[in-house]
Amino acid sequence: MTQELIEGFLEAIPLPAVLVDQTERFIGANAAGTTLLGQQLKGRHFATILRQPGVTAAIEACLQDKSARTARHLSNDGAQDTTFEVSLRYVPGIGAVNGGAVLLCFTDVTEREQAGQMRRDFVANVSHELRTPLTALMGFIETLRGAARDDPAARDRFLAIMEGEASRMNRLVGDLLSLNRVESAERVRPKEKLDLTAHLTSTLKSMQLLAEAGNVALSLEAPDEPVHVTGDSDQLQQVFTNLIENAIKYGGDEVRVVLTPMERDPALRAPAARIQVIDNGPGIDPVHLPRLTERFYRADSHRSRELGGTGLGLAIVKHIINRHRGRLRVESDLGAGASFTVILPQ
Ligand SMILES: Nc1ncnc2c1ncn2[C@@H]1O[C@H](COP(=O)(O)OP(=O)(O)OP(=O)(O)O)[C@@H](O)[C@H]1O
Ligand SMILES: [Mg+2]
Repeated sequence: MTQELIEGFLEAIPLPAVLVDQTERFIGANAAGTTLLGQQLKGRHFATILRQPGVTAAIEACLQDKSARTARHLSNDGAQDTTFEVSLRYVPGIGAVNGGAVLLCFTDVTEREQAGQMRRDFVANVSHELRTPLTALMGFIETLRGAARDDPAARDRFLAIMEGEASRMNRLVGDLLSLNRVESAERVRPKEKLDLTAHLTSTLKSMQLLAEAGNVALSLEAPDEPVHVTGDSDQLQQVFTNLIENAIKYGGDEVRVVLTPMERDPALRAPAARIQVIDNGPGIDPVHLPRLTERFYRADSHRSRELGGTGLGLAIVKHIINRHRGRLRVESDLGAGASFTVILPQ
């Protein structure tokens, strides 16, 4: 095969691809291969470019026994670490003295690996979250069968704790299902037209008891005229309920909900409604802010668990706001309270 034909074939491969012949030097690379491994490959020994032992060993073995194999190549695209699966195939009749060459094709499997990792983390987290209350329940069942069998006072106390643990598991499963529903509908745009002023008024009314129980003054500041958005009213209720519930649980003694219509939101570049949930509590250390909407992420995990939190609330909020093509912004500092801002396009 002439060099021109080789180049033509390499360029037709829709992946980064390079050829290494029996002299152990590169005899060709397509544009994607050059982008991945660098300019001026041709004529260079492969080991000066591909230094990872898995890949070099595979090339040497393939040149020797001419059978196909795969290897892993780790790289970095400037922004993040990337992983490639390299397939090695022997091509006879080309290269130095037509002794054949090895064709290396690089498939980017970074996303696949990340998705796999996320799935494993998720399962590990769910199991852990379920196991804690379950272990407590099993412990109390054992105690009720044994030591506390004839002690009515202890039995009542244990049953109350067991009820708490069981309802935590129930909440967790409910939140997981809700997250699943929101995720699977994320691409379907909501169609309902609703008035945020009325919507927030009724949401606040339903949270009033919780606020009173926590000695928190809950107030709404909204314009008198209706503020319309297109949205899913149940889901938006879930968003505001969780943000207000968090502010009551983790905040101080005052929670303000402020609704402001905006002619043009700079981030959305469109008319929008802004809803802020502001508390005067201990706030959140800024190191936690970027990860706050991750599943099971808690800024103060001890306090959150103690208060029955599952750590899924803000993950659900984030998905619902994404579905509404909106934005969520969190501002907070230790000792300075927290402010959660939802921007919804109008
Ligand atoms: N207003 C706030 N002030 C201080 N910390 C907050 C506030 N809102 C949220 N957080 C922190 O963010 C974490 C994540 O909140 P999120 O709503 O996702 O979970 P949760 O409240 O623990 O559980 P769930 O909402 O599922 O009951 C909380 O555990 C808490 O540590
Ligand atoms: Mg919450």
